Amino acid sequence: MGEVTIRWAEAADDAALLEIELTSWDGSTGFPSYLERLDGTFFGRSGPEAHLVAEDDGVVVGYVRLEDKYPFPEGAGVLAINGLAVAPAARGRGIASALLDAATEEARSRGARKLSLHTFSTNTAARRLYARHGYVVEATHTAEFLIDGTPTDDLVLAKTL
Ligand SMILES: CC(C)(COP(=O)(O)OP(=O)(O)OC[C@H]1O[C@@H](n2cnc3c(N)ncnc32)[C@H](O)[C@@H]1OP(=O)(O)O)[C@@H](O)C(=O)NCCC(=O)NCCS
Repeated sequence: MGEVTIRWAEAADDAALLEIELTSWDGSTGFPSYLERLDGTFFGRSGPEAHLVAEDDGVVVGYVRLEDKYPFPEGAGVLAINGLAVAPAARGRGIASALLDAATEEARSRGARKLSLHTFSTNTAARRLYARHGYVVEATHTAEFLIDGTPTDDLVLAKTL
């Protein structure tokens, strides 16, 4: 295990981040249809400026996507974590924790009041992680999605800064 550093993403990280996407999301963590919509690029959805990445000895092993939750000024104090993933081989070493800490620091530096995110109730690893970082469940959207045919609750989690 090398030294883990957190930095802003660059366009050149696209292939490494795409590989993390393809190995991180399935019906227990996200929408199975999402992988089909990726179309060969990670940054198709939002650019490098929305992502902090974790590097382990120069290899990108995880990311967090941090974006404004709302496009209007009344919601400007709320930032959304719209994605968090760590390569399977790098999990269980605090890399997601380090990414969340960096996202919190960035949100505070922007004067944000709150961080908000969605997760499936079935994603126990993510829920433990977020609970450790002070996120609480603000809303439960019961049986919101049919994931591989199974009705699945969508949770809205938030952390007040
Ligand atoms: C959820 C996810 C991001 C967690 O990433 P991670 O880097 O393994 O997370 P962490 O290492 O910070 O924490 C995970 C575990 O490692 C442990 N850990 C943390 N720091 C550690 C360290 N320095 N050494 C050893 N273990 C450590 C934590 O205690 C935690 O254990 P527990 O939650 O089982 O009790 C990862 O599993 C993932 O990418 N999943 C798929 C995508 C996903 O679900 N994303 C979230 C969607 S909302």
